[in-house]
Amino acid sequence: MKIDLAFTPYELEKKDPRGKAVVVIDALRATSTMIVAFENGCSGFIPVATVEEAIQLADLKKDPDLLLGGERRAMPIEGFHLGNSPRDYRPEKVRGKVVVMTTTNGTQALLAARKAAEVFIGAFLNISALSRRLGEGERDVIIACAGEKDLFCLEDTVCGGAIIDRLEKGGVPISKDDAAVAAKLLYEYYEGDIYGMLAGCAWGQYLEGVGLGKDVRICAQVDVSRLVPVYREGKIFLDR
Ligand code: MLT
Repeated sequence: MKIDLAFTPYELEKKDPRGKAVVVIDALRATSTMIVAFENGCSGFIPVATVEEAIQLADLKKDPDLLLGGERRAMPIEGFHLGNSPRDYRPEKVRGKVVVMTTTNGTQALLAARKAAEVFIGAFLNISALSRRLGEGERDVIIACAGEKDLFCLEDTVCGGAIIDRLEKGGVPISKDDAAVAAKLLYEYYEGDIYGMLAGCAWGQYLEGVGLGKDVRICAQVDVSRLVPVYREGKIFLDR
């Protein structure tokens, strides 16, 4: 299995995801929030690029089980039911619901992955289950970091390195590109203190500064979920 890592959605497009399995990671916070939502009974997500698109889709469908969720500058969007904090996605709020979601980086990375043969949702919360699922497959893999406005971010890269670490420890023979080699080394440096890395990275400090530090601790939980959501035909859902 060949594993490449894309630091940003722009790099993902350059690496041509067609025919490959892509893992989309936005550790702070979109993919972590999605996994928490699925653990709480959420039925699915529809990622869209803009606030306007989200509102139009919800208006069009006029479905009481369709909620609007997401953020801009980490804050909930006016008129939306949910922000992008995992704490918003409580069972009583999301059980049986589908969330039309737009975030600054996470949903953009998902949209950039649409040409891939398979797309999985990854975060620290599900790295082992995700690695097992990847190991079952035959496809080459691209780990797609959401990044921050198409620039490198530490947290997504360390999470990508964790997935590579689990695959190698699981005995899957893999070859890595330079970015994947770097990500694995970064993970080996931080693996003993994932929370410290998340709290210390640029976006973790920003979240703390706007009163969302509790989200960082939730997103730092390693292997608390066995769920591996997939993104297929415009929707994110559990296929198992
Ligand atoms: C993103 O998509 O950029 C992040 O999830 C932003 C956030 O922390 O809500």
